[in-house]
Amino acid sequence: MRRKRVIGNWKMNGGLAANRRLLDELLPQLAALQGVEVAVCPPFPYLAQVAALLEGSGVALGAQDLYTVEKGAFTGEVGGGMLRELGCRFVLVGHSERRSLFGECDEVVAEKFAMALRAGLVPVLCVGETLAQRRQGQTEQVVSAQLQAVLRRSGIQGLAAGVIAYEPVWAIGSGETASPEQAQAVHRHIRALLGEFDRACAAATPLLYGGSVKADNASALFAQLDIDGGLIGGASLEAASFLAICQAASPRQEQERAQP
Ligand code: 13P
Repeated sequence: MRRKRVIGNWKMNGGLAANRRLLDELLPQLAALQGVEVAVCPPFPYLAQVAALLEGSGVALGAQDLYTVEKGAFTGEVGGGMLRELGCRFVLVGHSERRSLFGECDEVVAEKFAMALRAGLVPVLCVGETLAQRRQGQTEQVVSAQLQAVLRRSGIQGLAAGVIAYEPVWAIGSGETASPEQAQAVHRHIRALLGEFDRACAAATPLLYGGSVKADNASALFAQLDIDGGLIGGASLEAASFLAICQAASPRQEQERAQP
């Protein structure tokens, strides 16, 4: 059985004092939680601080991006090896904000995914359609193309060494969540696509949902067959809401849902 995971993407938020406050409140409560893998992805300048604060907590560290090559004359960019050295286990690649605001195409995302694997990081590949694409019935086609680019570059074994996060662009930061059924339908499609290459890889790859996940909708989303947890933006910036989402992913909650 796949373990549930919850990853907080802080985006461009936080500060030295705010990070400490958030983790001081969050970590003791998370320590009591069993059976959920939790990670947080602060902005680059705070990775070292957050790495130190997370030490011994069992909560993993992730970064929000990396460059396609390891090092060199690339002003402003960050290499995967640097992230590893700072204690990162995960790195987000192809977040829709990177794709739409910074022009990252599927091929660049695939290159970053491959670089993350080479650096010994677990890439969290974000895929998802815009509202216009959904309205035109192109959701599966868009998500498939985003996955195919990574499959061409890293193969099914490479893709399965990462995590996939389905984040419909229209649900990000909008307060409008995909319904559990809408999200499950895309997750099932992703798993079926992976299954065309390798059934075992398809069954083992963690598929997270992201897009306005909150304390009050997390349980219904996480109860879906192919949803293995969440990638959380806004609600990961506050201890109470992030904790509630992590609790919704815990196996005990799942049992309670199965036997009300
Ligand atoms: P929100 O949870 O704020 O909608 O953001 C989702 C997201 O983009 C996580 O990567």
